[in-house]
Amino acid sequence: MIVGICGSPRRQATEYVLKEALNMLEKMGFKTEFFTVRGKSIEFCRHCDYCIRNKKCAIKDDMYGLYPLLKDSKGIIIATPVYSGGMSAQIKAVMDRCRALSSADRGFFRRKVGMAVAVGGDRIGGQELALQQIITFYILNGIIPISGGFFGANLGATFWSKDTLEGVKKDEEGFRNLRKTTRKFAKFLKETRGKRVD
Ligand SMILES: Cc1cc2nc3c(=O)[nH]c(=O)nc-3n(C[C@H](O)[C@H](O)[C@H](O)COP(=O)(O)O)c2cc1C
Repeated sequence: MIVGICGSPRRQATEYVLKEALNMLEKMGFKTEFFTVRGKSIEFCRHCDYCIRNKKCAIKDDMYGLYPLLKDSKGIIIATPVYSGGMSAQIKAVMDRCRALSSADRGFFRRKVGMAVAVGGDRIGGQELALQQIITFYILNGIIPISGGFFGANLGATFWSKDTLEGVKKDEEGFRNLRKTTRKFAKFLKETRGKRVD
């Protein structure tokens, strides 16, 4: 199963492009799940270390809807809008709250496969840094990051929405590099499914 996590509080550009990637993967035969921060209550990590002592998070909120999806997933797609030149605070809160999973099981994320999507209102508004922030989260947790490769999708998929849903739908270059990244992500998952990759 592949879980797509949307870091936008709106049903707009980021959700749209993430769902495009998930649809593409469904057509290739993968089971997918969509999770969004929109309308959810996801508090910041409090660094109370409850998770280190008790192997679960003390904050009982909507992260408990995501934890089982992450457990069942072989692939993870994190898609974020670009806020203040990087990823959204909402997706950062999700990442920090994943500490509870690694505290319970150090190998929780190991050998899962990850791809990243960033949607900015500006053409060059911080998409690349947002992708790097997601990739850093992957590396820190032992998730294997996959890019779409050179000629357009070097670190993953980036979009220029011009702040509207209509704008992102017109971003042909964005969809080209989303398809490139999704194809490589799917290929890697298929090649390594059920096999050790170390
Ligand atoms: C608080 C805030 C900060 C933003 N900062 C940036 C930015 O630094 N660079 C950029 O390209 N767009 C920025 N944007 C615009 C959003 O990235 C853009 O509208 C994007 O499409 C939002 O995703 P959504 O349509 O899924 O909500 C910002 C938007 C908000 C609300």
